[in-house]
Amino acid sequence: EKGTYPYYMLKEIDEQPAVMRNIVQKYQNEEGRLTVPEDLVTAMLAADRIHIVACGTSYHSGWVGKHYLEKFAQIPTEVHVASEFSYNPPLLTGNPFFVFLTQSGETADSRQVLVKVKEWGYPSLTITNVAGSTLSREADFTLLLHAGPEIAVASTKAYTAQIAVLAVLSDALGAKLGHDMGINMVRELGIVATAMEAVIDDKERIGELANIYLPNTRNAFYIGRGLDYYVSMEAALKLKEISYIQTEGFAAGELKHGTIALIEEGTPVLAIITQANVASHTRGNIEEVRSRGANTCVFAMEGLAHDNDQVILPAVHPALAPLLTVVPTQLMAYYATLARGYDVDKPRNLAKSVTVE
Ligand code: M6R
Repeated sequence: EKGTYPYYMLKEIDEQPAVMRNIVQKYQNEEGRLTVPEDLVTAMLAADRIHIVACGTSYHSGWVGKHYLEKFAQIPTEVHVASEFSYNPPLLTGNPFFVFLTQSGETADSRQVLVKVKEWGYPSLTITNVAGSTLSREADFTLLLHAGPEIAVASTKAYTAQIAVLAVLSDALGAKLGHDMGINMVRELGIVATAMEAVIDDKERIGELANIYLPNTRNAFYIGRGLDYYVSMEAALKLKEISYIQTEGFAAGELKHGTIALIEEGTPVLAIITQANVASHTRGNIEEVRSRGANTCVFAMEGLAHDNDQVILPAVHPALAPLLTVVPTQLMAYYATLARGYDVDKPRNLAKSVTVE
């Protein structure tokens, strides 16, 4: 039930700190360490390559998952749009392992790949919010998101839950390998939950920014590099999906290779900055579009932020920054849609789970 909330989407955005804490609790063992089943660890560490397969928002969390699997578990990882994989599969190595990311566990495009993977005899894991869903039943392993039902068509808490579970999984794999990646995942996910709360408490300010940057615009851009690029793709999908503003998420450095031609007086460009190694480069890209008339709005993490940035986010571990930065972008989408008078929870032409190919 959405209770006092006007829309499920806002309720589900608000639930994210609790979901982070719930995931830590569900995956913690008696010694307080985050674990996943031992046979899953063994199967994944036997792989020479991991393929993440997903659609939409789940595809976007897959990119963050690739980062974790490569950084923490040191297994080369590819991310695939399910509907592309089906008809144009990549050249596979000898021991691939497949990870299906699907909130609903019912997405037909993803299931079609799982059916093929099973025919080929390769091992698979489904990460889903729905116990007993089709993709959960058909894969060899399941990890649950423990996010509670997600009702709004626009996915919010499932995205952050997927990223958190992928972080837990990658951390558990890394621990088995004896890698000390210098991150105390239990502690850092707790810090993320508290930081999310701070952003959500300040939601009215994000509503004001939506009114400043996004009214009467036909298009908008999100830009970032690395993990901030992956969040930009998700932020753009969220905004376009419910507000119908044509939005693209771009790797900041790629704009100048063509898309910058679309920047004109007043075009909103929203930039995400949380990664120290690329922060100054993204700042340079912000200047490039600003000098061509863009209306720039910067979401930056403490430590990398400038005083005049529009949103300064509390510091979290940089690897976990996507969990936090996505929250103000979800709120931007919510408020921009509200201002336009559309139904936030039920955007046109879309269903919650897409069970046709
Ligand atoms: O249930 P799934 O995670 O498999 O769904 C995948 C996409 O259909 C879904 O994420 C869709 O993109 C959302 N409406 C995005 O908000």
